Amino acid sequence: MDAWMVHEIDAIDLFCGAGGLTRGLLDAGINVLGGVDCDPACRYPYEKNNRIRFIEANIEDVHPDELRAMYDNGRVRLLAGCAPCQPFSKYSQGRDLSQDGKWGLLYHFSKLVKALQPDLITMENVPEVVRHSVFDDFVGDLRKRGYHVHYQVMDCRLFGLPQSRQRMVLMASRLGEIRVPEPTHNVASFRTVRDVIGDLPPLKAGEQNSRDRLHVCSRLSELNLRRIRQSVPGGSWKDWDPELIANCHQSERGRTYRSVYGRMSWDEPAPTMTTQCFGFGNGRFGHPQQDRAISLREAAIFQSFPPEYEFVHPDSPVHMKAVGRLIGNAVPVTLGRAIGKTLIEHVCLTSSQICQSYASQCPKPLAAEHS
Ligand SMILES: C[S@@+](CC[C@H](N)C(=O)[O-])C[C@H]1O[C@@H](n2cnc3c(N)ncnc32)[C@H](O)[C@@H]1O
Repeated sequence: MDAWMVHEIDAIDLFCGAGGLTRGLLDAGINVLGGVDCDPACRYPYEKNNRIRFIEANIEDVHPDELRAMYDNGRVRLLAGCAPCQPFSKYSQGRDLSQDGKWGLLYHFSKLVKALQPDLITMENVPEVVRHSVFDDFVGDLRKRGYHVHYQVMDCRLFGLPQSRQRMVLMASRLGEIRVPEPTHNVASFRTVRDVIGDLPPLKAGEQNSRDRLHVCSRLSELNLRRIRQSVPGGSWKDWDPELIANCHQSERGRTYRSVYGRMSWDEPAPTMTTQCFGFGNGRFGHPQQDRAISLREAAIFQSFPPEYEFVHPDSPVHMKAVGRLIGNAVPVTLGRAIGKTLIEHVCLTSSQICQSYASQCPKPLAAEHS
């Protein structure tokens, strides 16, 4: 690479969703040029909060030339992407996924890499992805094309996320050796449920806060209200009177399934946010104290979206399912920021000249600076 280029990083975010990864990269100082996603519900949050172009398209239909035209020659080009994880998640193990259309999306990512030849690549997915041949093919292809590749399962709590979430992060570079981010936190400094939602206004089940439409939680049936009143933080349906326990949990198989209908603990990180995290029966998604499931705002905060991040146009209703999907699917902003910072440090370490805007993040003394 020409030593006199200004090495700022330009990124395109494939499968950008509502913008969790994009927001993290932006926070780190990366210039995100646009995001691509086929779900029209992503447009409003993506554009409104990040002021970046949203391309509504199926990745399979995007012509590489359209993306190539967005990159500015002379800058470091990053292709970021978080292909949908459903085909790889542990909930789909054992199912025949060969017919699943999403299965091939990583191959499509590879095709875009081949066509665009970005300098840097980052990809995030569920840890189980590494057990599948599609992942081996993806990595093999990158290495064949001359990329240095490193990937690792990352515990998001070690990066300051107030949520227990394991994610496989892959980073690849044509500029030199690269490694995934190093943890910034330890068990003693884990952020907790209390740290991040302890001050939010209280809600009753089914209520919506008048100032923040996203601080809204699901209604509970009379039976589920009785159940949550008997739920203890960190516990499960095992804590209830026998007549409240669902038939499916009384069977031999159901008895082992304990991590549903639980309350969170104030002094621990939240459990993994899913697309269904607004439902009391869908996991340990009960509020630690109030008799309700967590609100969408609380879920977004556990995913480290800024408290003012908007997901729905002010004139549109807030649909729990639609917004829950955007939030549960997101790459936590905190993780995106850690990835972005690592990429900037990597560019600083592998380039002889760096631009002034990255100077404060450069881990080595600056030889010369551009402005
Ligand atoms: C795991 S989510 C990505 C989350 C996003 N990176 C974020 O941080 O908010 C996967 C996304 O892929 C999108 N998607 C699924 N199939 C797609 C396709 N064929 N083309 C484009 N986007 C697709 C989904 O709509 C979803 O938003």
